[in-house]
Amino acid sequence: METTKTGGVPRHVAVIMDGNGRWAQKRLLPRSAGHRAGMNNMIALSEKLFESGVEYCTFYTLSAENLSRPQEELEGLYSLFRSYFRKNVRRLQEKGIELRVIGDLDLLPEEIAQLIRTGAAQTVGGTNGVLALAVGYGGRQEIVRAVNKAVRAGKELSESDFSALLDTAGMPDPDLLIRTGRELRLSNFLLWQCAYTEFYFTDTLFPDFSEQELEEALHAYRSRTRRFGRV
Ligand code: IPE
Ligand code: IPE
Ligand code: MG
Repeated sequence: METTKTGGVPRHVAVIMDGNGRWAQKRLLPRSAGHRAGMNNMIALSEKLFESGVEYCTFYTLSAENLSRPQEELEGLYSLFRSYFRKNVRRLQEKGIELRVIGDLDLLPEEIAQLIRTGAAQTVGGTNGVLALAVGYGGRQEIVRAVNKAVRAGKELSESDFSALLDTAGMPDPDLLIRTGRELRLSNFLLWQCAYTEFYFTDTLFPDFSEQELEEALHAYRSRTRRFGRV
């Protein structure tokens, strides 16, 4: 860990893409329309982030807890994932972006899980950036999975050994976490990884979070002084 660092370009940006439902509600549209707009925005913002020199982007697309939402909403989300993975994997491959998925895919219908696994496998080896999608993800669940792996291996671990057992193995911790949609909480996202992450919270609902506001968030990051507990 570096001692004191005033932020330049963050290496890893994580985004809690919240507010899709309220965005749709405001327009008298079904929540699924908000999720579609959110997904399209996620694609645009990830491209912008990579263009800005960010190497790792992580988007919270579906939490483990979200799986308790009404079946109708989940079906809408699954059909979005279906079309996302069918349409975008080749594009990511061409751009040399590696797609990773964090979370417990076993919580999803088998057909969706399979599509996601296949899509991610096709992009392995991309060297121009990593796009991580958190699907069926929960930070506590991820930590418990890692602890269980350690218990099975029967040995004590260092911090870095433990990090290597998490879904984010091999990825640096997020430098900047953006949460849209007005709530001021983590909602079980990257609990271990965000120990020293800089936070940027905004009222803007995710589908309205523009490239311009992303620029503002990156600008805010640049003016932060990161001390990691030192003076
Ligand atoms: C975030 O938007 C996306 C998912 C959780 C899938 P929400 O669906 O939580 O939108 P709001 O918070 O209800 O507006
Ligand atoms: C967090 O948003 C999860 C995602 C954005 C995927 P939620 O809408 O689920 O969070 P809470 O329920 O308001 O904490
Ligand atoms: Mg929400």
